[in-house]
Amino acid sequence: MTKLIVATSNPGKLREMQAYLSESEWELSLKPAELDVDETEDTFIGNACLKAAEVAIALNCWAIADDSGLQVDALNGAPGIFSARYASSDKERIDRILHELSDFPDSSQRQAQFVCAVAVARPDGSIAARAEGICRGEILTAPRGTDGFGYDPIFYIPTERLTFAEMSKEAKRSISHRGKAFATISAQLAAIKQ
Ligand code: IMP
Repeated sequence: MTKLIVATSNPGKLREMQAYLSESEWELSLKPAELDVDETEDTFIGNACLKAAEVAIALNCWAIADDSGLQVDALNGAPGIFSARYASSDKERIDRILHELSDFPDSSQRQAQFVCAVAVARPDGSIAARAEGICRGEILTAPRGTDGFGYDPIFYIPTERLTFAEMSKEAKRSISHRGKAFATISAQLAAIKQ
């Protein structure tokens, strides 16, 4: 099995990627904490490629990285790549979005999407695979549900009549931006000659 370094020092993210790539022939492990890469690009895919390439070069190993976030149509795509930094806690980030959408009461005005980009880099830093997954939904006027993380309690999927925070892990995975991006990258990884 070839090692694939996950460009994060967050063990939760490693476990999540292991679950998504459980069928693959790659052995995933965390990058060392002291190796830090700033997200300086202005797109999700740009940041995923940058993180994967820098970690791959630094460790002379294959590396995988992701970048994700929420884009609200009425806010011209904000918070976008700044989703994790939009305020200092999940509650404050949710409150900020709800406040910014307070002049947009109709669900037609509250359309949004989650985006997840994933990239795999070879040991020389060149990109071997990349994928992007998008999940459309709408922002509720108040949070609903207790599961999940981040903006899940305000992200509503009309066809399911549930927010991400009200869905089982399996249901979220089957329709989410992350589930879609990892399904694509998993197929690409299976085709790569190691
Ligand atoms: P990342 O770890 O740099 O990809 O940051 C992603 C940020 O976007 C997280 O901190 C969340 O705020 C938000 N986000 C991304 N995906 C999700 C999701 O599935 N549910 C809720 N929030 C998400």
